[in-house]
Amino acid sequence: MPEDGAMALKPANLTYEEAAALSFGGTTALDFFRRGKLQSGEKVLVNGASGGVGTAAVQLAKHFGADVTGVCSTANVELVRSLGASHVIDYTKEDFTQNGETYDVIVDAVGTAPFSRSKASLKERGRLLMVLGGLPDMLRIPWVSMTSSKKVIAGPATGRAEDLRFLAGLAEAGEFKPVIDRRYPFEQIAEAHRYVDTGHKKGNVIITLEHDD
Ligand SMILES: NC(=O)c1ccc[n+]([C@@H]2O[C@H](COP(=O)([O-])OP(=O)(O)OC[C@H]3O[C@@H](n4cnc5c(N)ncnc54)[C@H](OP(=O)(O)O)[C@@H]3O)[C@@H](O)[C@H]2O)c1
Repeated sequence: MPEDGAMALKPANLTYEEAAALSFGGTTALDFFRRGKLQSGEKVLVNGASGGVGTAAVQLAKHFGADVTGVCSTANVELVRSLGASHVIDYTKEDFTQNGETYDVIVDAVGTAPFSRSKASLKERGRLLMVLGGLPDMLRIPWVSMTSSKKVIAGPATGRAEDLRFLAGLAEAGEFKPVIDRRYPFEQIAEAHRYVDTGHKKGNVIITLEHDD
């Protein structure tokens, strides 16, 4: 790691596995919320609220004082509620783009809510945080800025050292809990990738390493 790399002391109250799960979704969600200028009291919808980025985004938006709606499938409704979402939409029963509700910020961590689908669910000056999006959606971003009060924010998130330390501090204070789905030993890493590639993990998948003391 470079001297100024994204490093933080492991929070004492987390296991090594939980500490490993702290950074990926957490630093991504923090970077997008910063670029999207999330404010306390705003209404935030997280599409893909049960995934790695989504479970972090729900907890962080709640921490920043937002009113959070999570979108997930039936099996994950309770998990998403337990992370701090005050409303949960089951995407197998309801399409959030069709229910007439509007939000200041929409986080799309699945890629199923590009601007063309979600623009009517954004308030005036609303922001779509496109964690995942295709090239055609990216190419439309300048056009959206020129023709609308709404904004699309996309591109790779930066993993900053200060963000990792902020997350570690929140975890230490019991205000941020990395969600772990499955653990695989290093020898089964291909199996772990196969599971992640299904697109249905809950939070994070951990690879464990055996070591001699
Ligand atoms: N821009 C960046 O810098 C950046 C950074 C990090 C990650 N990413 C990208 O962001 C994406 C998300 O990563 P991740 O690790 O959070 O993904 P993930 O954990 O694999 O997402 C899986 C979750 O998405 C849910 N899901 C699947 N289809 C859904 C739908 N139609 N509506 C709502 N939820 C749905 C699944 O729930 P069910 O099983 O209930 O369907 C599952 O819990 C990845 O493509 C990743 O590459 C981008």
